[in-house]
This record gives sequence, C-alpha cells and structure tokens, in this order.
Amino acid sequence: MTITPAANPPIDLSPWYERWERQQETYIPHREERFTVMLDIVQHFCGDAPLVLDLLSGPGAISARILRRFPRARVVALDLDPVLVAIGKSAHGDGGGRLSWLEANVKDPAWADVLPPGQLDAVLSTTAIHWLDAGDIVELYRELARRIRPGGIFMNGDQMRFPPRDEALRGLTEAMRQRHEREAVAAGGETWEAWWAHLRAVPELAPLFAERDRRFRWRNVERERAIGALRTDFGERDLVHTTAPVHRAALLDASFREAEQIWQVYDNRILLAVR
Ligand SMILES: C[S@@+](CC[C@H](N)C(=O)[O-])C[C@H]1O[C@@H](n2cnc3c(N)ncnc32)[C@H](O)[C@@H]1O
Repeated sequence: MTITPAANPPIDLSPWYERWERQQETYIPHREERFTVMLDIVQHFCGDAPLVLDLLSGPGAISARILRRFPRARVVALDLDPVLVAIGKSAHGDGGGRLSWLEANVKDPAWADVLPPGQLDAVLSTTAIHWLDAGDIVELYRELARRIRPGGIFMNGDQMRFPPRDEALRGLTEAMRQRHEREAVAAGGETWEAWWAHLRAVPELAPLFAERDRRFRWRNVERERAIGALRTDFGERDLVHTTAPVHRAALLDASFREAEQIWQVYDNRILLAVR
C-alpha cells in the first residue's frame, strides 16, 4: 500500500531533533559510541562515498552522522512516522541534495518499491527493529539482501534481549537499564512519554498526529495481543524483542554471506551482515 508523504507544518521543528537526541540518550547508554562503530564499519566496507539507507530513521540520527562524516555520501531515510519525518526534514532538510526522505511501512510486503532504483552499499538501523516481530524481521532481511550489492553491508544497532532461560543475565541487564534511566532522568533527561506528550501539545502538529495514529494502529493491536497471550516478570516492553541468535539466523537465511555480532554492552548490540 503506497503511503502519501505528509506535508511539513509551517513551523521550525529542528529544536525537537536535539530534544529527541537527548531523550534517546536517557534510554541508550553508549549510543554515540555505537554510531561511531557503525560508521567506522561503513568506511571499511564502502569507502567514503556510499549510498546508505537509514532504515526506520525516525528524525534521522544515522543520516545526520553519515552526511557529516562522509561529505560525498548519499542517504535515503525511511520511516512510517510522519511526525518524526517532519522533525528530520526540519532539522536536516535535504542534506544539500544528498538526503531524501521516504515514508513507508516495512511490514507492507511492497515497502521497498519506494526505494530508488539500483543497489545500496549499506543499510543501517538503530533502536528500531525491536518494533517488529520475528516474522516481519525474516521478510525484511530477505528484502534487504535483494537490495544490497554483493560486498555491501547491513547493520542493526539495537537492544536485543537475552533469552528467557538466561535469567541472571536478564536480571543484570534490567537492573543496569533501570539505574541508567533513573540517573539520566534525575539529571534532567526527558522520558519517552514526556517527550511525546510535549510534542503532541504543539497545535500545528495536530493533523500530523492524526495521520500518525492512523498509520500505527496495527502496533496497538499487536501489542494488546502479545500482552494478552504472554506475561513476563520484565513487563510489556520485553515481549516484542527478538534475540540476537534469531536475528543472525534470519540474516543467514536471507543469504547474507556472513552475519555476526560485532559490538556489545550488556544487551545493546550491533549485528553486522555482509552481503
Ligand atoms: C525509537 S525510533 C529510532 C529512530 C532512529 N533510528 C534513532 O536511532 O534515533 C524507532 C523508529 O522505527 C519506526 N518504525 C517502527 N515500525 C515501523 C514500520 N513498520 N515501518 C517503518 N518505520 C517503523 C518508528 O516510526 C520510529 O521512528
């Protein structure tokens, strides 16, 4: 199903990009280090003029860093959320002609039709693929394998939880996560909920929020179903996470030549796959 890109509201949303960055740091220790490692790997495999897909880009954290570090790179940022895309456009524009924005739902089997023709050098995603269930991830990786050139790469930087049998590791990771969040909030960091509540109160954004709510209706339905079917001691957020070995198996199944975890702090990981 083709999505008609939403029009940007006539206000400057770029301060919300900076607030997004701080808000994400509340939840993701070592976020910047993770980006740096990912960009080092892009440089190694793709040189300094790559064509990169920022997959599930939100307001373009990866895009901005790629454009800054590689002055000859081109980036395509793709996301379903019209509000986050509007913030990204306001903050980064078209990157001096090197950045384009696409709106699509990667759960739609035809999502990749919106991509530009030709093959990609690299696809990078952060803090996002955990929104998808294992079935969607298998299909997504197969599509990426078709779109990435031989020798090109895919990287997923995300929290990938330990499996339920690793009770001690899960307990440790959860304790560390809670401590980091507590300290970050005490130091003035914004929570995810507060950030969204403040943004939703901006009157000019009402039409975009209506569109956002329409596009993400599937997420509430899936979440309710998952919570109804399964409860864990770690709460609702835990239910949607696919473990690292499952990601790796899905990448190899999709005919990536090699796939392995290349960086990890607790359950924050980067998985690298070479096409
Ligand atoms: C937490 S944000 C991460 C954004 C950015 N990559 C970053 O690290 O700052 C997760 C993003 O995934 C996007 N997303 C989730 N499910 C999606 C789907 N099915 N299709 C497209 N985008 C999706 C959301 O809209 C959101 O922008």
